[in-house]
Amino acid sequence: MNMTKWWHDKVAYQIYPKSFLDTNGDGIGDLQGVISKLDYLKMLGIDMIWLSPVYQSPFVDEGYDISDYYAIAEEFGSMADFDELLAEAKKRNMHIIMDLVINHCSDRHEWFQKALTDPYGEYADYFYFRKGRNGNPPSNYRSYFGGSCWEPIPGTDLYYLHMFAKEQPDLNWENPKLRQKLYDMINWWLDKGVTGFRIDAIINIKKNLDFPDFEPDGPDGLSSCWKMVESVDGVGEFLDDLKRNTFDKYDAFTVGEVFNMKEGALSDFIGENGYFSTIFDFSAHCLSDGEHGWYDAPSVDFQTWRNTIIRSQLEIQECGMEATIIENHDEPRGVSRFLPEYAQTPAGTKMLGTVNILLRGIPFIYQGQEIGMQNASWDNIEEFDDISTKDQYRMAIEAGLTHEQAMEICCRMSRDNARTPVQWNDQPYAGFTTGTPWLKVNSNYKEINVACQEQDPDSVLHYYRRLIALRKSPEYKGVLTYGRFVPAYENTDFVIAYYRQDSKQRVLIIANFGVEPAELALEYPARRILLSNQGLTETPGQVLHLQSCEVMVLDCSD
Ligand code: GLC
Ligand code: CA
Repeated sequence: MNMTKWWHDKVAYQIYPKSFLDTNGDGIGDLQGVISKLDYLKMLGIDMIWLSPVYQSPFVDEGYDISDYYAIAEEFGSMADFDELLAEAKKRNMHIIMDLVINHCSDRHEWFQKALTDPYGEYADYFYFRKGRNGNPPSNYRSYFGGSCWEPIPGTDLYYLHMFAKEQPDLNWENPKLRQKLYDMINWWLDKGVTGFRIDAIINIKKNLDFPDFEPDGPDGLSSCWKMVESVDGVGEFLDDLKRNTFDKYDAFTVGEVFNMKEGALSDFIGENGYFSTIFDFSAHCLSDGEHGWYDAPSVDFQTWRNTIIRSQLEIQECGMEATIIENHDEPRGVSRFLPEYAQTPAGTKMLGTVNILLRGIPFIYQGQEIGMQNASWDNIEEFDDISTKDQYRMAIEAGLTHEQAMEICCRMSRDNARTPVQWNDQPYAGFTTGTPWLKVNSNYKEINVACQEQDPDSVLHYYRRLIALRKSPEYKGVLTYGRFVPAYENTDFVIAYYRQDSKQRVLIIANFGVEPAELALEYPARRILLSNQGLTETPGQVLHLQSCEVMVLDCSD
């Protein structure tokens, strides 16, 4: 990697607006809530905010079903609120990144409505309308949220394709008219002042137009639709076209949500001339992908997790940078997922944050992560809102699990764990709303909230501020942004450690995830201790003693 880019040294924060902060008492977070917390985010050290979708939407998939790309959902406010957010962010030298959902739109979108009225007309070609085969859908694909990917179009022998919910029809990227409409829309937002996009489900835009059947892989006789995605070539041409017609002209930052990438394609995606600035590193998250669903997800041990992160870092640094995350709005909380129970404490939370945020990449912090929010406890399936959780529950039951077993899995894996309201204080509903929140508040809000952590210099929140400040400090910014990742102490059982180093500096990040203390000889003498989750300030000698859940960041430059 030769050229430096404006976004290389940025720290990003994901806001899921519906759950961030409600300012008008309707129980739904809003843009004014975001505006009111910009100073809080600035103080945390955030440069860039990714907003999960705020466009007009029926919210079948919580805004990932867009019915008007040019309008703000009234639940969140108005375009004037959005413009105010842009202006206020700019004042603080912060960037706003929009979510770009262009594999599909909502079935309420004007294009789809027009297509339904005239199933052989111009707008039908914005989507995939296909005849069935012998009274069956055109192919046997199962959508990501369950059931067939094909939905009959009333009054015809046609079906339309949807890889997600049936309310999210897939857009036909083969149609140049549709592509141009999307490019115009993207450029409109860039002209407004957003400086980039997080790009949703983007690998799905390329279909095999023959729509061949695949070997059934479940009791429903269907086959996961990602098998078609994985088997088809040519997504690169679309992505290149997209980039040249939009992002390139604005030097925009783009982060792709890319799953099922082909072997050896990484540099096409994030290399010097890649389709995107970066993509998310989901390697640790994919470890718990079940073959059929959450119910047969393998459990992940520490060594597997560590080795996966190491392998991923080593591979990525050969071609670019990825965006590193612990959690997002589609994943359970990282503290509950990646830490053993004994480590689900403030010390363990700080340790996990340190190991993740000092990796080579662009850190994305998800709302509430900076105070160590955890999975909620859920009593029954009705408490969940998430479309995917409901489907996963159904699949687990169909596979023969008991209600209790299926609930246990949903509690562990549900996307709603990340979507409970941000815990601002110990007031009713954690200060998120004065009304009734759209999704329940985690019952631990009295112990874990922003206000009480503000008061406590040892809190997770204060630690995150120090951690980000270290990453951005004039003295260490260079090495922590561009320095190579070099794994260390790989022969230990419960320690994860790595160096970030360049020709002048070497920083060691070392953490003990074990229950027992660990004793290790330093390979390079420490000059200075840069960060410690135990509040240590004295530079350690030749032998390091790490307590359970202890992390240290040491300057080990020659
Ligand atoms: C992405 C989003 C997820 C959404 C899906 C369909 O994976 O992150 O929340 O459900 O795409 O748009
Ligand atoms: Ca509101």
